[in-house]
Amino acid sequence: METIQALMTRRSIRSWTNEPVTQEERKIILEAAMNAPSAADARPWQFVAIDDPETISKFTDMGGTEMLAESTFMVLVCAEIAKEIYPGFWPQDCSCAAQNMQLAAHDVGLGCVWIAVYPLEERVEKCRAVLGIPGNITPFAILAMGVPNEVVAPEYRFDETRVHLNKW
Ligand SMILES: Cc1cc2nc3c(=O)[nH]c(=O)nc-3n(C[C@H](O)[C@H](O)[C@H](O)COP(=O)(O)O)c2cc1C
Repeated sequence: METIQALMTRRSIRSWTNEPVTQEERKIILEAAMNAPSAADARPWQFVAIDDPETISKFTDMGGTEMLAESTFMVLVCAEIAKEIYPGFWPQDCSCAAQNMQLAAHDVGLGCVWIAVYPLEERVEKCRAVLGIPGNITPFAILAMGVPNEVVAPEYRFDETRVHLNKW
């Protein structure tokens, strides 16, 4: 898939079949994550890959997350803040990794949705408790994936009024 086509057609997918995400697809998605840009190339990220249905089911009670029961592969993007070179950029770095994962999933024909974790303290603590995340690691976002069981049409969102040329 061409890059522009991929990013213009990606949508959040929240319904999945029970077909597994292959090892090859998992690798592509995690490679895409770690190829993301980051401030000073610090790469302050860690990833927890989750394919155990019982573990996945523990995330279905966070409010609006019931659909995660259908996800066959989730990745929790985490920050290891001590790896930062310029303090404060880690949410941007982790967002770049997360968006790369969404686009890679779409490219290989998987459906993906970003589930907010940071800065929702309750969700951060949930991730720590369920996955045994240590104190020096900050859970940031869950990318829930699987073989799509719904079709969501692309949406064209370009809005010329949001573009300011040379001055506001
Ligand atoms: C930072 C962030 C947090 C999000 N959190 C959630 C979430 O907790 N639950 C959910 O179902 N979708 C979540 N989403 C997905 C958005 O709802 C979705 O991207 C938005 O509605 C636009 O739709 P699209 O992804 O299909 O283009 C999140 C997306 C982002 C970027």
